[in-house]
Amino acid sequence: MLDIRPMLTAATGVLTSPLMPDDYRAMMNPLWSRQRLSGRVEAVVPETPDASTVVIRPGRGWRRHLAGQHVGVGVDIEGVWHWRTFSLSSPPGRPDGLVTITVKAAPGGFVSEHVVRRLRPGGIVRLSRPAGGFVLPDDLPTRLLFVTAGSGITPVMSMLRGFALAGDLPDVFLAHVAPNGPQVIFGGELRRMAARFPGLRLHEHHTRPVPGRRAKRLTMADLSAVCPDLPDRMAWVCGPRGLLDDAEAYWRAAGIADRLRTERFQPVARPSAGPGGRVRFVRSGRETAAGAGTPLLAVGEEADVAMPSGCRMGVCRTCLARLAGGRVRDLRTGEVHGDPGDLIQTCVSTAVGDVDIDL
Ligand SMILES: Cc1cc2nc3c(=O)[nH]c(=O)nc-3n(C[C@H](O)[C@H](O)[C@H](O)COP(=O)(O)OP(=O)(O)OC[C@H]3O[C@@H](n4cnc5c(N)ncnc54)[C@H](O)[C@@H]3O)c2cc1C
Ligand code: FES
Repeated sequence: MLDIRPMLTAATGVLTSPLMPDDYRAMMNPLWSRQRLSGRVEAVVPETPDASTVVIRPGRGWRRHLAGQHVGVGVDIEGVWHWRTFSLSSPPGRPDGLVTITVKAAPGGFVSEHVVRRLRPGGIVRLSRPAGGFVLPDDLPTRLLFVTAGSGITPVMSMLRGFALAGDLPDVFLAHVAPNGPQVIFGGELRRMAARFPGLRLHEHHTRPVPGRRAKRLTMADLSAVCPDLPDRMAWVCGPRGLLDDAEAYWRAAGIADRLRTERFQPVARPSAGPGGRVRFVRSGRETAAGAGTPLLAVGEEADVAMPSGCRMGVCRTCLARLAGGRVRDLRTGEVHGDPGDLIQTCVSTAVGDVDIDL
């Protein structure tokens, strides 16, 4: 049978020019757009005083995620879309088609505070496609270890919920770090899961069980004491910088670094030395001074240049810009690089001398 849909689409395009059919679809319902992936907030569920789960109905173009992956989320704050990256906390293939992210308000955090305190059901968020390699392998190891702290539980929760949905949880040791019991994100659900599935052993490490006392962090010695078969387990670790640095050093020293997978929510930054330089944003006609430790993304935003950005930590590559002159330092590795025409990630690049950016 003759498919007349492409002709109708083309005809609609001509008749409705200069707006394209997709613009009309998006105006009627942002979730219908084929070009701009969006989602509708169905609910915002408090998890702890500082963290909430946002339940989202993704629109057209959403692709099922793998447990452990993250997604770029654009949030409209006073008419400007701000993008951040969040791990999906829902299992892949939830029967109702909904997905969730769980956000912890970072102290003074611009987007996370907004999401936790002010986002409401009915709101529209923009979405990127799920991405990331912090996932389970097809050939599942017989024994798994998850070590998480704070909001670092989110990608692991997606994995655990996936197992629970399938009704089959393998041998899992989960060590989770939080200030105290009530501040464990998903605390109730995790404890119920551990009671239901004999394969799941949950170890909660509370850093401040008594308010006012000095914090007691989880050391790698504590971890190997509670989980003696740690070296035999395939491990996934997600949490703040200190925990990740400790874990990487421990697994490396034990000669088992290949059994460790990590997910960082904050970039590894090396201190930058040197004077910085002048940064010229060629197309915007702006010029400003930049310190050696300030990412070019922040330099441009400060100078009122429209800077594309997403995760702001070297993960999503939304901030790519073309270098028109000068050299930059990669904050993660300390490497100095750059030839005219190179694409650089402005969120993790700083100026080494004078720099021209094609923005
Ligand atoms: C792959 C990936 C997955 C992520 N998944 C989650 C998730 O599931 N849940 C979640 O809550 N966050 C997650 N994040 C972190 C999230 O993207 C934001 O960085 C975080 O919400 C802070 O953004 P903000 O706009 O509120 O803070 P900003 O306004 O950008 O920063 C304000 C202050 O907060 C500090 N800060 C920045 N990031 C963090 C952080 N992660 N923790 C503590 N302080 C911080 C900054 O140093 C700064 O001082 C993830 C990040 C990545 C890269
Ligand atoms: S904003 Fe994500 S890589 Fe730079």
